[in-house]
Amino acid sequence: MAQFQLPKNSRYTDGKTWPKPQGATRIQEFRIYRWNPDDGKNPSIDTYYVDRDDCGPMVLDALLWIKNRIDPTLTLRRSCREGICGSCAMNIMGQNTLACTLGIDDCKSSVIKIYPLPHMPVVKDLVPDLSAFYAQHASIEPWLHTESAAPEKEWRQTPEDRSKLDGLYECILCACCTTSCPSYWWNGDRFLGPAALLQSYRWLVDSRDEATGERLDHLHDPFRLYRCHTIMNCANACPKGLNPAKAIAEIKKMMVARAV
Ligand code: SF4
Ligand code: SF4
Ligand code: FES
Repeated sequence: MAQFQLPKNSRYTDGKTWPKPQGATRIQEFRIYRWNPDDGKNPSIDTYYVDRDDCGPMVLDALLWIKNRIDPTLTLRRSCREGICGSCAMNIMGQNTLACTLGIDDCKSSVIKIYPLPHMPVVKDLVPDLSAFYAQHASIEPWLHTESAAPEKEWRQTPEDRSKLDGLYECILCACCTTSCPSYWWNGDRFLGPAALLQSYRWLVDSRDEATGERLDHLHDPFRLYRCHTIMNCANACPKGLNPAKAIAEIKKMMVARAV
């Protein structure tokens, strides 16, 4: 009979509640997922209190405040702190998003809950293992393929052709979409997921690229492309306002067009 219980070592426990900052009058509570691969313990949820008058306005500011003032062992990724690098993607209040572009006030909650991106192995605390995600991106060969003789100066594009890349080139590979996709949760080893497919379409639609047939051949597979069932979680999750589901639908149209 099928078992529907989580393995014992995956259940999280109540973690440590850290003291409130002394003298603070404006305090925000955070509950944050913690897991350390080296201590042999189950994951836990630690509670922290942040002095809003001593901290910047974004969720990332609060995480760094906690790391610098309370608990240096809290582990997370971040780099640009302006929504460009994609490193600080995590699940905040049940939504995959970027900690650096989400305001603490926008969470509109007396308790802000933060977890790593869902359905990925965890390296530590808020850091997911994105090795498979990056390998899937690499598999679509995200660079210009050409066969014609190289031009003297540059591969040129008309403004109209260039505009076809709008809504695609802005992807920062944060993985918010892919880790919110139910089809990817169940078939992440074979379905490429929305981010890799949006990137694939970015090259398929590039007027300078000369490998359209090979790119479509690579995607012509029951899992790589066709596990997308247009559930649209990906478009709702994208912090850059992109629509991977639409890009996937365009790839499917290209498949049909070349078959007739
Ligand atoms: S539209 Fe497709 S890729 Fe996007 S969440 Fe749904 S199944 Fe996943
Ligand atoms: S499409 Fe959006 S959510 Fe997905 S990886 Fe790119 S920027 Fe992130
Ligand atoms: S730190 Fe770069 S996107 Fe958030």
